[in-house]
Amino acid sequence: MNKDLQKQGIEASNQDFSEFEQVNKTQNYRLTEHPGDEAFDTDTVIPTCDMEPFFHGGEAGRQEFSQRLGRALEGIGFAILTGHGIDPELNAACNRKVQQCFEQTSLDERLAFEAQRYGSVNQGYFPVRKTTIIHPDLVEGWVFCRRAFDLPGNTGFDESAFWPAAGYEPVFRALVQAQEKLILPIMQSLLQYLGCDAHLYDDRLTDTNFGFRLNYYPSVSASDRDSGAGRMLGHEDVDLFTFLPAPDVDGLQVLNRNNMKWIRLNAPPGSIILNTGDYMQRISNDIFPSTTHRVSHPVDPALLDRARISFPMAIYVWEDEILEVLPGTGEPKYPPVTALKFHTAITSKYYGADYAVDEVSS
Ligand SMILES: [Fe+2]
Repeated sequence: MNKDLQKQGIEASNQDFSEFEQVNKTQNYRLTEHPGDEAFDTDTVIPTCDMEPFFHGGEAGRQEFSQRLGRALEGIGFAILTGHGIDPELNAACNRKVQQCFEQTSLDERLAFEAQRYGSVNQGYFPVRKTTIIHPDLVEGWVFCRRAFDLPGNTGFDESAFWPAAGYEPVFRALVQAQEKLILPIMQSLLQYLGCDAHLYDDRLTDTNFGFRLNYYPSVSASDRDSGAGRMLGHEDVDLFTFLPAPDVDGLQVLNRNNMKWIRLNAPPGSIILNTGDYMQRISNDIFPSTTHRVSHPVDPALLDRARISFPMAIYVWEDEILEVLPGTGEPKYPPVTALKFHTAITSKYYGADYAVDEVSS
């Protein structure tokens, strides 16, 4: 880990790393918050999209949801999903398990699972300040892809190969399976909004790959705060879209590209925050932007002593799928590319130039 590069990241702008991007991004922002030096947008409201009409409103309901969601994601690029049908107790159980995972295992036990690339995704444990090489993120993370769960297709599944102890996988699997049920409704609604066949991605997204990430942001010490580092650097997700059950400690900030101000996003308990990523921007020919966000220290100083927990689920296509601009979205701005090449070219920004690969192999 190059500490100088990380330290420079505190002052850096995203455009310093533009060579890695695989979609057009003209927004220019600092990777971390510089208090007193940045503008906040307290007027813009992230749209809430109730999924109830999609599930129970027939064709008219699906059309209504599609329009509402499409407008939100084409505009600000974030939406708050309600009416999704997922039991809030699942989130509470996952919260407790994340806390247990990071507070009741030793660092050595966690380091035994230190992250390595497998396919496109860097999977496993990331110690604090080691999420990326370009910024000292004040977070510990752990990424589990589909193969880390006892799910259809994973014959001979071995829990001990991925998890520090028994008992974690079933709890997180329950949430992953519940959120998997939302993948096709979201994709179908976005395709419908774009005027495409709503079922174009049904096969590709059935039993597809995903990255389920546990984030444990430890309490922030005075020296952490003085260092200028943020909890997680400003970034765009690489995926089609991300589900994030609303965290209970604030800190998530969303960049409004229309006025280049940051929005502090605090979604209601039980809701799911949805945002679009690079795969989606690529195939939608820039109609759905890959949206910038970061995690800063909480506004209320009393919360600095509290750990923050979140568990986003990034939805991918498998590595050998081709990302191709969708029909009817205008003159293609991008040539077709394999998901593997696209994904690893972008994420070599975070992990080093040798992370980028062209061919599928583990
Ligand atoms: Fe993200």
